[in-house]
Amino acid sequence: MAFPIQRLRRLRSSESLRRLVRETQLAPSQFILPLFVVPGQGIRKEILSMPGNAQMSVDNIVRECEECRKLGIGGVILFGIPAHKDETASGAYDPDGITQRAVRAIKKNVPGLLIMTDVCNCEYTSHGHCGWIKEGDVNGQVDNDTTLGWLAKTAVSHVCAGADIVAPSDMMDGRVQAIRQALDAAGHTNTPILSYAAKYASAFYGPFREAAESAPQFGDRRSYQMDPANGREAMREIALDLEEGADMIMVKPAMAYLDIIRQARDRFEVPLGAYQVSGEFSMIMAAANNGWLDLDRTILESLTSIRRAGADFVLTYFAKRATALIS
Ligand code: PBG
Repeated sequence: MAFPIQRLRRLRSSESLRRLVRETQLAPSQFILPLFVVPGQGIRKEILSMPGNAQMSVDNIVRECEECRKLGIGGVILFGIPAHKDETASGAYDPDGITQRAVRAIKKNVPGLLIMTDVCNCEYTSHGHCGWIKEGDVNGQVDNDTTLGWLAKTAVSHVCAGADIVAPSDMMDGRVQAIRQALDAAGHTNTPILSYAAKYASAFYGPFREAAESAPQFGDRRSYQMDPANGREAMREIALDLEEGADMIMVKPAMAYLDIIRQARDRFEVPLGAYQVSGEFSMIMAAANNGWLDLDRTILESLTSIRRAGADFVLTYFAKRATALIS
């Protein structure tokens, strides 16, 4: 039975019909807003390549978080930018480091808001790589197993400060296991790990590196982040992270990797996140600011596509605007 009996346009003829048969829904609870926290007071420093986003001191971060809670946004993910960077990323696991202080302040002033922390070293190392680089190694080959110890300490310090979820984004092998063991040993058996399981070496992180002041001083991240050409390997990364104890997994970036999100959704029975990264945000903003795209429609279409591909939740710099659009 085909045309003229079948007419798919019948169910598209009014918004009330379209709404009834819509397969994918967006809700504020599915959005996580990334925030950049810096030392100081009263600071709100706009990130030029990410219009509307800013590095904020803890007092302003708390205000931003209050707004997120009021809007019903799913949560925030924190990235700390320390006053001083060094070769051993000591600011990352300092119990009084910038991220730890922000977490404590948010927990105290905005109870009930879900706090995730990004667990990585690139914002804290003087060279901008995600871990320990042996002296004299100019190829930027991060030493995997030494870095695991830093990551574990960092995760424990975030959870001690009050983080609800830790999200390792470094792409070292074995980091989920190292973090799980350290959290359990410290008595935090109930704190979930959201693993950036399939994280690609992507050009779309460009603006983030301005935001987090974390551009590598030499080399690039291709010896630890994934090759954009590989899909099967992403499934291995995810399977291994789950074996090591990840509670949730993430694919990053999102829009250029919708096939990976779909494969992960079909293959693994765990909550799945996707990160609509800085470059995805900035290219939409840039086109909209030029009058080339309709910002609000593009935001909703991009987020709907990521959800339709299979993501349960989305880390997105559009979290607040998208919430306003659907509420
Ligand atoms: C830290 C980290 C990065 C992003 C999230 N965590 C940067 C990178 O790996 O270079 C990128 C997020 C974005 O682009 O919005 N390793």
